[in-house]
Amino acid sequence: KVKAFIFDLDGVIVDTAKYHYLAWQKIANQLGIEFTHQHNEQLKGVSRVRSLDLILELGKIQASQEDKNKWLVQKNEDYLSYLVDMDESEILPGVMPILKFLKEKKQGIALGSASKNAKPILEKTGILHYFDVIVDGNDVSNAKPDPEVFLQAAKLLHASNADSIVFEDSVAGVQAANIANMTSVGIGEETVLHEAKYIFRDFTNIDTNFIEALIKK
Ligand code: G6P
Ligand code: MG
Repeated sequence: KVKAFIFDLDGVIVDTAKYHYLAWQKIANQLGIEFTHQHNEQLKGVSRVRSLDLILELGKIQASQEDKNKWLVQKNEDYLSYLVDMDESEILPGVMPILKFLKEKKQGIALGSASKNAKPILEKTGILHYFDVIVDGNDVSNAKPDPEVFLQAAKLLHASNADSIVFEDSVAGVQAANIANMTSVGIGEETVLHEAKYIFRDFTNIDTNFIEALIKK
């Protein structure tokens, strides 16, 4: 049977979650807002605009649209500066064997990311061709935990929600998959991602038997 395997990007396929964090931290510092790792968990999977709003809420700061736009531009420029030399070494351990296995098994493979930088990242890391479908921050208007991004991906792969599997490192993303009645696979810490149906520390802990079982289910 052909299932839809939908991958989040940042923190799942590539190690970019740390760069988003660094870039947001710089903005927060500038504004005198304390922004910890824990706060950052709430930003994962969340759109750029919504992320800034969350940081401003944290610092109880009211800002003009003009200032917000300025910070959004600064954040993205800073973030992109970390990606200048990006190549396949940024792909997280264990990801490639799973992508290859899914291709071998002729399964549907989609990207479901809130990022507007998704395509250039897949190009730089040389894995764009693995994806049958790409749904990113340019295609959706509702941010995770709204399931819009995953619903679009499943639809484009002609798969039902029940036949869709979502790999996510963010709480918002796991919730989005659950809301859509898709199988959520959390990649990260159990304490953070406990709402996921399955949780793995990283892709090196996922073997092909697990994937095979999902395909047959
Ligand atoms: C992903 C990341 C978030 C990021 C969002 C928007 O969901 O987990 O940290 O803010 O995408 O990314 P962008 O590259 O468009 O700023
Ligand atoms: Mg992510």
